[in-house]
Amino acid sequence: MNIIKVESYDEMSQKAAELIIEKVKNVGRMNLGLATGGTPKGLYQKLVEDHKANGTSYKEVTTFNLDEYVGLSATHPNSYNDYMNRFLFNHINIDKSNTHLPNGLASDLEKECKRYEANIDASGGIDLQVLGIGENGHIGFNEPGTSFDSRTHVVKLEESTRKANSRYFQAMDEVPTHAITMGIATIMKSKEILLLVSGARKAKAMHRLLNGEVSSAFPASILKQHRNVTIVADHQARSGG
Ligand code: F6R
Repeated sequence: MNIIKVESYDEMSQKAAELIIEKVKNVGRMNLGLATGGTPKGLYQKLVEDHKANGTSYKEVTTFNLDEYVGLSATHPNSYNDYMNRFLFNHINIDKSNTHLPNGLASDLEKECKRYEANIDASGGIDLQVLGIGENGHIGFNEPGTSFDSRTHVVKLEESTRKANSRYFQAMDEVPTHAITMGIATIMKSKEILLLVSGARKAKAMHRLLNGEVSSAFPASILKQHRNVTIVADHQARSGG
């Protein structure tokens, strides 16, 4: 794993944006895997600013998000679909029909998972996947104990994850109990992975990622076995131990 050490959240966002913009400009058609949550908001803001200032075009870019809540419509303000529109897609020249998230309202969720996985494969796979990391080492919504062989699947969210995400909801009981997430094997199929880690809250996870063993008890540890991972971590995230 290649680690890029930066000082601040802003610098992490800037560095990540530069890496993505370079690919978008040079690769032509590409499949970009995206994450939601607090961590990549700064990155998306930088991509929007660059698009406005320099006209970087996303016409040839197709996106696949890691996950979506079950039970929220695409327009629900807490859905990841709405998040992506608000923070990125509405502000760049991407064709919305090229942006993909699992459908959390599908009547047959198992079928939806299979469809999503097949869609990624049929598109030629993900060229670059952006990831954040949970305090418990989750990637996507793959909580500790998830099989490394998992593909896109429905998960029951851990209470700690629901609690961490409840900051975006009015009340704890509004936080969905389930989500659809790319599996760990789905993530590992990506040709390249860009993991963003910021803040003291993530310092323990960062320390365990770098120094711990590869184990499903800490899902992100599998990234050590991927051949093209770049971690951009700020000072606070590196202060654990
Ligand atoms: C989001 C996702 C999650 C987050 C993780 C960190 O699509 O899949 O794994 O990346 O929960 O969340 P933040 O960035 O809010 O700390």
